[in-house]
Amino acid sequence: MPRQLFVTTALPYANGNFHIGHIMEYIQADIWVRFQRMQGHQVNFVCADDTHGAPIMIAAEKAGKTPQQFVADIAAGRKPYLDGFHISFDNWHSTDAPENHDLARQIYCDLRDIPESEGGSLIARKTIEQFFDPAKNMFLPDRFIQGECPKCHAKNQYGDNCEVCGAVYAPTDLIDPVSVLSGVRPELKSSEHFFFKLSDPRCVEFLQKWTQDGRLQPEVANKVKEWFSVRSNPDGSTSEGLGDWDISRDAPYFGIEIPDAPGKYFYVWLDAPVGYLASLKNLLDKRGQDYTAYMAQPGLEQYHFIGKDIVTFHT
Ligand code: 2FM
Ligand code: ZN
Repeated sequence: MPRQLFVTTALPYANGNFHIGHIMEYIQADIWVRFQRMQGHQVNFVCADDTHGAPIMIAAEKAGKTPQQFVADIAAGRKPYLDGFHISFDNWHSTDAPENHDLARQIYCDLRDIPESEGGSLIARKTIEQFFDPAKNMFLPDRFIQGECPKCHAKNQYGDNCEVCGAVYAPTDLIDPVSVLSGVRPELKSSEHFFFKLSDPRCVEFLQKWTQDGRLQPEVANKVKEWFSVRSNPDGSTSEGLGDWDISRDAPYFGIEIPDAPGKYFYVWLDAPVGYLASLKNLLDKRGQDYTAYMAQPGLEQYHFIGKDIVTFHT
């Protein structure tokens, strides 16, 4: 019996052309896919542009383009490289395509609308405080805030970690923070965010089983195990187990608007992995094949070629 394989490579951010790292990953995956096809197995091998998020929105503004035009121009430059390196993708799509908007919203609504009889909603709303740039009129991602490291006092460090001493902290811990976008001092402002309740026992139990049942490479499974334990770290901090995941961002943001929540958008990492499914659906639709039936095949095997830095988001 031929195996049914659905294979992907990480979706490149649409804020730059390919570099050697992208092409290396595609060639590795392509070799494996060609090998499977030579064995007579049936493979759908897809990728797409990862189009959303603040860095792309800001890059588009700098280039004097709309985000849509900006990512379309990047996408237009992809084909000669994919063809030139003989990469045998069956489809190249975009996370800003209608299929991805629909699938991401559907997944979110399914999580939101779980009835009480089945344990209730897995989406929560919480008000949080974040740095806001009063000159640009937007909330700032951690990487767009710089300041003095609270630990070693190195200057010009990013809002999430210090590149000199390696300390990890919140942007609000920085001494003399400034917005990288405008140079002004950011202000603390509160806003309601949407969270995926990963700390819910239903999620913890499911993920613990799912990640340890032999489907993942042992190295990846071992790394993932760490997230579930409450323990003391060598640096003196404590790990609390799985925490709820902040999946929303406030306008202005280039992304997918959250259903029934005007001005709130999905964080790019919510809709990016859904982009694999959107690209597959687009491919099957073009061939007149049924996406739901394809995904429901009990024997379908799903393989993601990724770097270890993005294992967290994929899991
Ligand atoms: O790390 C990156 O380059 C991301 N653009 C990968 C996304 S992979 C998938 F989740 F979309
Ligand atoms: Zn430091």
